[in-house]
Amino acid sequence: MSYDDAIAALSNDALKLVRDNFVIGLGSGRAATALVMSLANLIKIKRYSIAGVPTSLQIKQIAERERIPIIEADQIESIDIVFDGADQISDEGFVIKGGGGALLRENILFSLAKKVVVMADKTKFVKNLTWPVPVEIHPLARSSIIKKITDIGGKPKLRLLDRGYPFFTENGNIILDCDFGIIKNPKILTQKIKMMPGVVESGIFLRKPDIIYQANSSGKFKII
Ligand code: A5P
Repeated sequence: MSYDDAIAALSNDALKLVRDNFVIGLGSGRAATALVMSLANLIKIKRYSIAGVPTSLQIKQIAERERIPIIEADQIESIDIVFDGADQISDEGFVIKGGGGALLRENILFSLAKKVVVMADKTKFVKNLTWPVPVEIHPLARSSIIKKITDIGGKPKLRLLDRGYPFFTENGNIILDCDFGIIKNPKILTQKIKMMPGVVESGIFLRKPDIIYQANSSGKFKII
């Protein structure tokens, strides 16, 4: 039994929340991928009429391959439920996301969702957030935001691909991974970051999940 077994098992459990005709937000990454695979199976078995709203091309192409009908976020005002992974989760229920660069769409879907379900392995659960906060910014604001982030105590690092080229998001922006050490007040930090002209999105999500699944390497899971 492994972490992957736990994610597969918890995906099946989480899907008990899904009903016919639901509009479902599809997060990005490993946990979201496992969920989408299980969702495709559920749709086939129950013959549900479901629409999936992707947060990235990564998950969209998996949903397409699994024949899950897709609608884009700009066509809807609300979604019934969103399933997503996370990079770090604090005791208070704040989440850092954006390790895959899909934070803008992920945060939009979190804000539109009647229910937010987050799935992550045990190593990502911490007392206070410490993960470098991904901040998506317009490329023109690179130097000014690097200075502003440094001024408020962060250490920003431009996200690069393996060979040193900058990572560009699906929205044509760049990402600064900003180390703030131990984040005591995620709300205030997020407000400060979002006030900087040129910031498109911050990886600290203020909409707390309604349900959090924790997967263990032993293959088991629990609801926090
Ligand atoms: C994508 O931008 C991220 O927010 C992911 O949801 C996050 O990195 C978790 O991914 P895994 O499930 O692959 O760990």
